[in-house]
Amino acid sequence: MCGIVACVGRAGARSILLEGLKRLEYRGYDSAGIAVLEGGTLHIGRKIGRVRVLEQSIDGDERFDGTLGIAHTRWATHGGVTETNAHPHRDDTARGHGIAVVHNGIIENHAALKTWLTQQGHTFVTETDTEALVHLISELYEGDLAAAVRAALRKVEGAYAIAVICAREPGVLVAARRGSPLMIGVGTDGYLVASDTQALVTHAQQVAAIDNDVVARINAEGFVTADLDNAPVTPKLQELDLTLEQIELGEHEHYMAKEIEEQPVSVARCLRGRLDARSGKVVLGGVGDHARTLVRARRVLFLGQGTALHAGMIGARLVEDLAKIPATAEFASEFRYRNPIIEDGTVVIPVSQSGETADTLAAVQEAQQRGALALGLVNVVGSTIARTTDAGVYLRVGPEIGVASTKAFLGQVTAAVLLSCFLGRSRVMSEEQAASLLGELDRIPSLLEGVCSEGDHAKVVAERFVARDNWLFLGRGYNYPVALEGALKLKEISYIHAEGMPAAEMKHGPIALIDDGMPVVVVATRNSQYRKVLSNIEEVRSRGGHVIGVITEGDTEAASLCEAVFEVPDVPAPLQPLLTIVPLQLLAYHAAVLRGQDVDKPRNLAKSVTVE
Ligand code: G6P
Repeated sequence: MCGIVACVGRAGARSILLEGLKRLEYRGYDSAGIAVLEGGTLHIGRKIGRVRVLEQSIDGDERFDGTLGIAHTRWATHGGVTETNAHPHRDDTARGHGIAVVHNGIIENHAALKTWLTQQGHTFVTETDTEALVHLISELYEGDLAAAVRAALRKVEGAYAIAVICAREPGVLVAARRGSPLMIGVGTDGYLVASDTQALVTHAQQVAAIDNDVVARINAEGFVTADLDNAPVTPKLQELDLTLEQIELGEHEHYMAKEIEEQPVSVARCLRGRLDARSGKVVLGGVGDHARTLVRARRVLFLGQGTALHAGMIGARLVEDLAKIPATAEFASEFRYRNPIIEDGTVVIPVSQSGETADTLAAVQEAQQRGALALGLVNVVGSTIARTTDAGVYLRVGPEIGVASTKAFLGQVTAAVLLSCFLGRSRVMSEEQAASLLGELDRIPSLLEGVCSEGDHAKVVAERFVARDNWLFLGRGYNYPVALEGALKLKEISYIHAEGMPAAEMKHGPIALIDDGMPVVVVATRNSQYRKVLSNIEEVRSRGGHVIGVITEGDTEAASLCEAVFEVPDVPAPLQPLLTIVPLQLLAYHAAVLRGQDVDKPRNLAKSVTVE
């Protein structure tokens, strides 16, 4: 998704901004650009491709070393991937005021604004929606940039996070948001603005999130914030709770490998202080006063996209199984627009790593308007979904930088297990039942250590099958969403076509795809559906498919039916996804590396999708 970083007050904007852009690279983008005000003149550099291409193009160029600048990584939504469409955008060189803007989000009424602005004599040179915004600010400018931005935003429909500078006001940075995230970083010698805390980590010690429809005016001395009618708003400053070590690669070749390896620790962090295995008790501080409403829920609906939806599907099974509340999971994007019926006692549970996914956010807001209580399973603290929901359970897995989600998925499933036990314990689960399951859950971090260190084996298996262009992933029950997630991982980063489905569904059509040598990954761990899955394996084998099994440790029967196996320790069915997904993550990772793909920044994908 687009990333914004801006700075004011400290010399050396070029290096501060480029460093910030590099830390935003993980979000996914197709071009990058920078604008710095130096000697009263606006200097703009833009390039298609990686930040390093932009960096090379302005290497040693002292015009970009000023004290005020804005920068951007673009993920195209309006207009193709061209240098002209890359941000920053500026107003007319002839009649403008030297205003430059970077923008994340979509200006929905850009066409109407453009028509009006063209009538006022403005000339448009790009295909972007953002250009309408910069011309609008310029049209309304009367010597006060913050006032012009407020006036412009009163006329704008859609979502935005913006940073704006003006040649007539050297030393002033204006930032605002609606929908898309944006925050101010406070350093010892200057201020920054960025889309996320990772771009602030080197230079800021404190951070203040900018609220929706709030405009910040920042200079070297400090900042003031006000709403669109200029009524003052008091920002909340917090210590920046992030270390460089958490977001740097260290010895790892890719963030995805680092994050897979971190899973034992990140699941342990998610569990810490929340479960008492002896008494079968779960403590969830983020549920607060809503515990009673939650426990009385008559229906639970998990919402999410991509990996988060797969975790939500597991969550729905857990809630039905352990708490006996009817529960389903649905694409947030579909829920939002189908005029959903929300009955009394409905609880919606948005699942999201970033907490910024536009589809998920919009669905939660829709559900809340219709009377549902919303409880978030979110990783990024203070993110928009986290702040929109009534209650929540933070995943606490630390920053996830690889575009393909791994440790966040485990965090989401872990949080769903905790929540289900919390609900179950207050309804139908006995103390013994809860104590037994929580005792098993407590073991998961140490069991994960073994499962996560199977990288070499995964590489050998990947080498055998990586030349194949079509794969199937099968699972039943709790492991059906795992099959979906395994297929998603493989296609996201290796670009191999893969489909996940319930193992039984294969014979209703997809079996026609199976030919000699097709890799079919089957999760066949011991649980109530084990025998049925073995039958499905036989069906694959008799048509020439090559079965890669994820099986329970020591299961020689299942092993004898597979060409390659990954063994995982035996745990109760509700906890199996926490182990069975890991071999599939490792397999996808090694397949992508063997195919020479850019694992952490797969083509066309963005880490956080803030447009619907
Ligand atoms: C994007 C990412 C996926 C992610 C999904 C939901 O599509 O590429 O990896 O699963 O968004 O993201 P969220 O931040 O809401 O979990």
